[in-house]
Amino acid sequence: MKIEDVEVIELPKILDDRGNLSFLEEHSHVPFKIRRSYWIYDVPGGEIRGGHSYKINREFIIALSGSFDVVVDDGYLKKTFSLNRSYYGLYIPNGIWRSMENFSTNAFAFTVASEDYTDTDYVRDYNEFLEICHD
Ligand code: TYD
Repeated sequence: MKIEDVEVIELPKILDDRGNLSFLEEHSHVPFKIRRSYWIYDVPGGEIRGGHSYKINREFIIALSGSFDVVVDDGYLKKTFSLNRSYYGLYIPNGIWRSMENFSTNAFAFTVASEDYTDTDYVRDYNEFLEICHD
């Protein structure tokens, strides 16, 4: 996978005097069939999440509130995406190393994933990740 395969996808935004509404649907906005969702919240200041890649799992991450940075790495290039709007999602294919950092106090990171959770899908050793990339 290449860094260019990571992309920000804008979600629909229905503006209303009563408040705004956004939504996502698999295939139209999320480029995979959704198997799972999870969320990260109450992250203490300065903490870093992630620090791994997945062999198969693909993800779509939204900052539903607050802000944080997602640093992605394809084994050759790194890129930082700052997420701070609830109507943008970051698509990260499998085979990309990612870290999440600079969480604001009220940050709420919502993720939909293409696979069920399984620890064997994780690559947590950066050198092993580089070996896979440079194979
Ligand atoms: P992990 O994916 O390492 O968190 P992050 O990448 O955000 O730092 O997951 C942390 C722990 O939560 C780990 O013990 C596995 C567990 N977990 C599940 O049980 N199910 C899930 O869907 C996820 C994402 C994690």
